[in-house]
Amino acid sequence: MSLSKTIRTQVGIVGAGPAGLLLAHLLHGEGIESVVIETQSRKHVEERVRAGVLEQGTVDLLNSAGVGERMRREGLVHHGIELRFDRHGHRIDLHELTGGRAITVYGQHEVVKDLIQARMAYGGPLFFGVDSVRIEGFDGESPHIRFRSNGEECAIACDYIAGCDGFHGICRPSVPPGALRFYEKTYPFGWLGILAEARPASDELIYANHERGFALLSMRTPRVSRLYLQCRPGEELAEWPDGRIWEELQKRFETVEGFRINQGPIFQKGVTAMRSFVAEPMQCGRLFLAGDAAHIVPPTGAKGLNLAAADVRILAHALTCRYRNGSEQLLGRYSEICLRRVWRAQHFSWWMTSMLHRFEGGNGFEYRRQLAELEQVTTSRAAATTLAENYTGIPFDLPGENL
Ligand code: FAD
Ligand code: PHB
Repeated sequence: MSLSKTIRTQVGIVGAGPAGLLLAHLLHGEGIESVVIETQSRKHVEERVRAGVLEQGTVDLLNSAGVGERMRREGLVHHGIELRFDRHGHRIDLHELTGGRAITVYGQHEVVKDLIQARMAYGGPLFFGVDSVRIEGFDGESPHIRFRSNGEECAIACDYIAGCDGFHGICRPSVPPGALRFYEKTYPFGWLGILAEARPASDELIYANHERGFALLSMRTPRVSRLYLQCRPGEELAEWPDGRIWEELQKRFETVEGFRINQGPIFQKGVTAMRSFVAEPMQCGRLFLAGDAAHIVPPTGAKGLNLAAADVRILAHALTCRYRNGSEQLLGRYSEICLRRVWRAQHFSWWMTSMLHRFEGGNGFEYRRQLAELEQVTTSRAAATTLAENYTGIPFDLPGENL
């Protein structure tokens, strides 16, 4: 039988997604020690295809944290997006409407790779492939994370636990019943996403509202297209051979000018459910939830990864204040500060989703209402500015945040 091994650190971090890895990196920059544990392998997290759009604030944060070098070289800076409906495209000039803000298209797994490489370079503890993860004692002074690594029982004794283990992790469910309140909405559709070796048919993202359902054209590189189709929530991939996917995409992106998507070999396919979810507060004793562990947005607003980055920036700052001057005052406000941005992103993501997707049933009222709304967003400068400000991301320092 193997003996239990205990590692002592300041902050124990559960999950090596963008939230956990970025938190560890920001803490390291402030001289605060942490240990990160992850149930999946390094290969798995580095290859997991997820988000692609980084807000200006997330880009600035990665740059200032010293992990933006490859993103600056390989990321695609976009100054606008297109809303397509009724077979016509309408450009929203994000840059002009927001006084110079932009978004950067750079895959989430590339951000994750950069953060893992940085962690490895300074020798920060990061355990992949662990199992049997439990957290305890966070209601008192000595929280512990227990897990097994290579068959060995291990424990992390820490001052604080950061629950960065995503929506399906164990941290949020470890909070005693009644301590958190959950707000949730599920949508009656999902997204079927593909990656294809095909030159993107547009230089900018296209969000298309079509009678057959929503479609999104995005990209990863100048040679790789990332495309999504609205589908049923539990859609079987087997029902979607490549030919059917291309046919459907061509229909949903059609324009009066005869627009065509560029086709090429599909090398990744997946279905994502659509959900809005918030756990409040994002803290219980010495456990702090961050990123998808605390909240989920439907991907239509491209906010999930950006919210995760915003949470950990605030958490890292609050922990820095705690270790510098002993005050837990800002840690006590962590949840309240994050939730203001979270609810704003919830509203924006819900709004984009409602405006762009096909809702089954009814007598066509919803579709006509959506067209009226899209008409307004693409012809009223005030309405377009609201979209542009939210899409590029509200400034990281909210008034009154006192950071
Ligand atoms: P995760 O990335 O889920 O990371 C959590 C980590 O914890 C995982 O590595 C997991 O393996 C690990 N873990 C789980 N349980 C345990 C455990 N018990 N112990 C240890 N580790 C554990 N967001 C955007 O901002 N822009 C977009 O364009 C965008 N597009 C998206 C498109 C799709 C199709 C999807 C699915 C999501 C998209 N998102 C987007 C959302 C974004 O991907 C997530 O919000 C983001 O991954 C959240 O990061 P996280 O670190 O909080 O959680
Ligand atoms: C993506 O490129 O994966 C992407 C882009 C915009 C979204 C969602 C996903 O709204």
